Amino acid sequence: MARVRDIGVDLGTSHVLICMRGRGIILREPAVVAVDKEQSRVMAVGEEAYRLVGRTPGSMQAIRPLRQGSVLDYDLVKTLLTEMVTRAVGRHVFSRPRAVISVPTGVNEMERRSIISIMFDAGMRRTQLLERPIAAALGIGMRFDEAYGSMIVDIGAGATDIAVLSMNEVTVGTCIPLGGDYFDDAIIRYVRKKHSLLIGERTAEELKINLGSAIEPADTVTMDATGRNLITGLPKTLPISSRDVYDALREPVNALIEAIQAVIERTPPQLAADIFEEGIILTGGGAALSGLQDAVYQQLRIPCAAAEDPQASVVLGCGQALENTPAMRALLSGTKRHWRR
Ligand SMILES: Nc1ncnc2c1ncn2[C@@H]1O[C@H](COP(=O)(O)OP(=O)(O)OP(=O)(O)O)[C@@H](O)[C@H]1O
Ligand SMILES: [Mg+2]
Repeated sequence: MARVRDIGVDLGTSHVLICMRGRGIILREPAVVAVDKEQSRVMAVGEEAYRLVGRTPGSMQAIRPLRQGSVLDYDLVKTLLTEMVTRAVGRHVFSRPRAVISVPTGVNEMERRSIISIMFDAGMRRTQLLERPIAAALGIGMRFDEAYGSMIVDIGAGATDIAVLSMNEVTVGTCIPLGGDYFDDAIIRYVRKKHSLLIGERTAEELKINLGSAIEPADTVTMDATGRNLITGLPKTLPISSRDVYDALREPVNALIEAIQAVIERTPPQLAADIFEEGIILTGGGAALSGLQDAVYQQLRIPCAAAEDPQASVVLGCGQALENTPAMRALLSGTKRHWRR
């Protein structure tokens, strides 16, 4: 039996989510740490630090310590996770919780060790790892224990996991550095080129969420975006249209769909036939991009649907994997005991 305080963790490039058995999601915060470089001090973590992104004065910097799902700064990831776990479950010196945490497809041994070590430092008794597509599939209640192919695409901020699952494992899978951040960069580049306006990451993300579409927008809406006029160097506000955002997102959307196609091409024919019949499920925050399911269908002629709360799929799957059943144990990897770096 899993213990009540055991937790499922999705440590993402843009968000950390934690769920607890019987209580569902208990924490969902941005994966951001604000640091004062001069004093080498952590000033804020999570939601509070996120508010500082792009608006920090002088020596203060708001940092996302993960890039494309990998640990970029060990100490800052440790600070982030320790704080998030403490916020979620409090400090328990005598009864440390067990955790299941998701990792990207194909993550190497060193990164696995480093995540486990960070979780130990963050107060876990034992940490087990779960591959992200498997976590996402469990989280949406997809069955993948038979010789039948199912496809899941988890579109995060830093990376996208594309996987075909069958017989309780990833049959064909890849993790590509093409997620929501890449979409935001495409919007920044487009607005700079077309309007000579340099906008920040936050503004680009707002444009994507409010106006973005992967299919041609039916009507044009606009949103005011403020940035730096590259000709005068002064701040300027311009209306950016949904057509602009659509044009900016065309290249990354096509690249994403081509990557899905490449995985299907590597899939054994019988499993590929199952996917053509059953369709593709999108999870991760990026799955919420308007029109994405239609764009996938238009290009690949495969039905496509998104999870209800796509950002939550992976953490919910980690929560499910805490159930200490033989079926779940078989999906997990990790150590009996923690090892240190
Ligand atoms: N409505 C929306 N349209 C388009 N993108 C969206 C929407 N809502 C959220 N996103 C994007 O989803 C991404 C965040 O998703 P998620 O929280 O699943 O990523 P993550 O798990 O932190 O990252 P990763 O899995 O790559 O480490 C961000 O890039 C965000 O801009
Ligand atoms: Mg993710």
